[in-house]
Amino acid sequence: MRISELTTPALLVERDLLDANLATMSAALPGPRLRPHVKAHKTTALARRQQASGHSGFTCATVRECEVMAAAGLGADLLLANEVLDARRLGSLVADGARVTTAVDSPETVAAAAGGGVREVLVDVNVGLNRCGCPPERAGELAAAARSAGLEVRGVMGYEGHLQLVSDPEERKRRTGEAMALLQAAAADVGGEVVSAGGTGTYRDNIWATEIQAGSYALMDTAYDAVGHPFGQALSVLGTVVSVSAGHAVADVGLKALGMDHGLPSIDGAQVRRCADEHTTFVRDEPVRVGERVRVLPAHVDPTVALHERMHLVDGDTVLETWPVDMRGW
Ligand SMILES: Cc1ncc(COP(=O)(O)O)c(C=O)c1O
Repeated sequence: MRISELTTPALLVERDLLDANLATMSAALPGPRLRPHVKAHKTTALARRQQASGHSGFTCATVRECEVMAAAGLGADLLLANEVLDARRLGSLVADGARVTTAVDSPETVAAAAGGGVREVLVDVNVGLNRCGCPPERAGELAAAARSAGLEVRGVMGYEGHLQLVSDPEERKRRTGEAMALLQAAAADVGGEVVSAGGTGTYRDNIWATEIQAGSYALMDTAYDAVGHPFGQALSVLGTVVSVSAGHAVADVGLKALGMDHGLPSIDGAQVRRCADEHTTFVRDEPVRVGERVRVLPAHVDPTVALHERMHLVDGDTVLETWPVDMRGW
């Protein structure tokens, strides 16, 4: 199949760039040093490629991601790096043979894990993102509560998400060190082997975590690209120009096909003016014709992928494979 035969908007993944991204990351963080975060791509076919690159433990953000990973035979060591108050579906996965560890940051999430049949947890620590995670000084008592509830505490996690897009490398490294000092203090109180943290933005800076939870590196987005990492923009949304006016052109890729929380998408050689529900309006010095195909580069990979039912692995104009985005939903 040729790209020209695809219905638009359509998610495209450049095979060569994807493979290069996976190889670059695996060289930097081989085997268990990387616990790829599947929320960035929500696609078991892609997770299987990450497994083939040497990584057998994965990070998930939702219960459904854990379920689909386990059903695909990728459940050897899943970390739900998120809090859940109903862990029964996770407990069912454990009963069926998957290894599932979940994050806890409160007595309630400890009770949910124990009551739901999960056996292993990480204590989630707030290292400055101010999202989930207990205060570092509370981690030890939470670990004790988890052990009293019969849970095995594998260690800690603490995601420094507020530092991922810091563009100055020196500042990013320094602040990552400060965040990880908080996590290491908590780890000393908690015990266990695992110190799980990090993302695509800090994968080189974070030398303190035992494993890095990076996800975006595989497909990439323009927000991360602007920071200057050695990963190529493998993901784009293919669109069709549906209207051309004197001062602008319009492609059929809008808010319903793009995650917009990191800003407007880009089109090589053009300036994107705005996005509406079904439209991206852009200007280009070169003439644009109605029916022309354009590649729209999203600013944020995760919410973009979650809007699509499938992604197409492409090489030039050829569609090599079509993968269901099978971890969508909750
Ligand atoms: C808990 C957690 N870990 C790691 C990441 C890193 O992901 P990425 O590499 O896509 O920035 C995220 C992203 O939001 C996250 O929420």
